[in-house]
Amino acid sequence: MILSESRGGALHGTYRVERATSVSGEIRPPGDKSVSHRAVIFGSIASGKTEITGFLDSADCEGTLRAFLSMGVRAERLSPHHLILESPGLRNLTEPPDILDFGNSGTAVRLMTGLLSGVLGFRVLTGDASLRTRPMRRVTEPLSRMGATIDGRNAGSLLPLAVRGGPLCPIEYDNHHRSAQVKSAILLAGLSANGPTTVLEPLQTRDHTERLLPRFGGRVEIGQNRVTVWPSELFGTEISVPGDISSAAFFIAMALLVPGSRLLLSNVGLNPTRTAFLEILSLMGARIGLSPDPAGTGSEPFGTLDVSFGTLKGVSVPLAMIPSAIDEIPILAVLAAFAEGTTEIRGAGELRVKESDRIAAMVAALRTVGVGVEEYPDGLAVFGEGPDRRLRGGRIDSRHDHRIAMAMAVLATRLPPGDSLVITGTDFVETSFPGFPSLFNSVARP
Ligand code: S3P
Repeated sequence: MILSESRGGALHGTYRVERATSVSGEIRPPGDKSVSHRAVIFGSIASGKTEITGFLDSADCEGTLRAFLSMGVRAERLSPHHLILESPGLRNLTEPPDILDFGNSGTAVRLMTGLLSGVLGFRVLTGDASLRTRPMRRVTEPLSRMGATIDGRNAGSLLPLAVRGGPLCPIEYDNHHRSAQVKSAILLAGLSANGPTTVLEPLQTRDHTERLLPRFGGRVEIGQNRVTVWPSELFGTEISVPGDISSAAFFIAMALLVPGSRLLLSNVGLNPTRTAFLEILSLMGARIGLSPDPAGTGSEPFGTLDVSFGTLKGVSVPLAMIPSAIDEIPILAVLAAFAEGTTEIRGAGELRVKESDRIAAMVAALRTVGVGVEEYPDGLAVFGEGPDRRLRGGRIDSRHDHRIAMAMAVLATRLPPGDSLVITGTDFVETSFPGFPSLFNSVARP
């Protein structure tokens, strides 16, 4: 066992990870977090029954489900990944008796702020200590322009937010933050507006909202750099959630990094607005076999990846790829540390307002283990392997950020023999990847 875990306590969980000699096997990554949130949201506002398979039973997505259960939606749980929702419809959602707590999830709280802005009733939305520091003005400002009544700390820019749902008017909005959460919050509010609502996108962000909405009967029009939604009556349907490419990314990286490895990953979501990570790896010289699954021709494509160890070269990540690889930047920085030459990641200032400041967190963590890095306001440069580099273990703080914890666990598979890396704050991995340690140990050999 190369990853040993201890849960809870003052450090909020720790991993101790040692070198791996090879990585092999076949895995299915857990359900996609973005699609699971949206499947629950649409299933909870679409009249009648919605059946969801492949649901991600992580802390973040369970929080979204809990919120709807407190507003009159009923759920039957057939297994952790299979549920049936029964909704009275968007306009009949009730006032919850208490504050809605979305834990660590920016996606949940921002999408729900948009949705609830147009649904009659009073609701207060909050989250954990990290989420209460994250910027909300990016949604409250456009929603206020639509006529939403929202107040919150720091003039509506920080949680908790109080939302008094009411009539909304349509807007045309330029998604200058390049944020799928902002786009989706506005489109969800648009369902209750009295005309078509349009979001313009200078750079395409993940498009799960606009792909899923028509499955429930929503009227959506997708044009060049723009998406428009009409107020629509939604009806329940069946949704199958593919595996999360952002979770798969940690295992793809492990197989690329540990000499002699080969790993198959099946049921991986291959939505083209989420696969920039694979394109960047291809620029770095990784050879990854990709077989799309014919069953994945529905709203979300998926397939199997065949990943083998290989040498990588540093690249300057093309700016246009950043929004669709934004969640993979921490693990990309780890891969870059083992590539030949330097990898430059710029135009990624959004990383500073994720679950942690991911630029600062990765710079600090990589320096601790002996990797050369330069920090920029909007990214970082990672210096690859050289003859003088001495990688070492030690202790790093994940800053309560799931993706920092998992990325650094992968890095530790390349430590010198006998060394180990202790990572603190690892309980937060549960927000996106329940069962990460056991899956990790099942493919990585000591
Ligand atoms: C998400 C959008 C992205 C991403 C997050 C999930 C979504 O956030 O980082 O993990 O499901 O819409 P931003 O919209 O802030 O870029």
